[in-house]
Amino acid sequence: MTIPVLTIDGPSGAGKGTVSRAVAKKLGWHYLDSGSIYRSLAISVLDQQIDLMDESAVTQVAKNMQLAFECNDELVVKLQGVDISARLPTEETGAVASKVAAYPAVRKVLLQKQKDFRQLPGLVADGRDMGTVVFADADIKVFLTASAQERGERRFKQLKEKGIDANLGKITAEIELRDRRDSERKTAPLIPAEDAFYLDSSDLTIDEVINQVITLTVM
Ligand code: C5P
Repeated sequence: MTIPVLTIDGPSGAGKGTVSRAVAKKLGWHYLDSGSIYRSLAISVLDQQIDLMDESAVTQVAKNMQLAFECNDELVVKLQGVDISARLPTEETGAVASKVAAYPAVRKVLLQKQKDFRQLPGLVADGRDMGTVVFADADIKVFLTASAQERGERRFKQLKEKGIDANLGKITAEIELRDRRDSERKTAPLIPAEDAFYLDSSDLTIDEVINQVITLTVM
């Protein structure tokens, strides 16, 4: 029996995390925030002062990472037993994550960690390559996007709510740069899967997006 998977891919700030968490809760399915795995690697690499340009050293850090996830209302991530959740959302962490995520060897090491989240009764997986690589056989695939301006504003609001200092212009520029890097890399670039449902959330409320995604699961 195959375990059902719903994938939600798309650029930064499109609302993937909020939508995926809400849909997973409604369906009673597990949730994978794959970006948090790359963000955890970024933190580990920074803490160990590893040269970001050294693919094999970064890959070794990925191999040694011991991650534990607890998903209640908020996602709690422990790296080698230490709660790093508060450090995950910053744009600095995201920028380093997108650099280490471009290494094919890193992606290979982290592939199984992500596949292991596929547990009954089902999984909602959010990221960049969920529908194209990690769960290419997923039952339902969504590519969720929004205009760069809208995504910048959403990310800015999110960071402010978490008490993280942010500047709107800088955040928008940083996510555009990160999206370019994610879309242009050779391995597992950010592109919609051929069979993905394309959803532009620029003019939709979060509840409207959640409802549209839920509708797909009952079709
Ligand atoms: O989704 P989030 O913004 O947390 O992801 C941080 C970075 O991790 C992305 O910019 C991307 O470079 C990388 N990532 C990835 N593949 C995924 C999820 C995230 O390359 N499936």
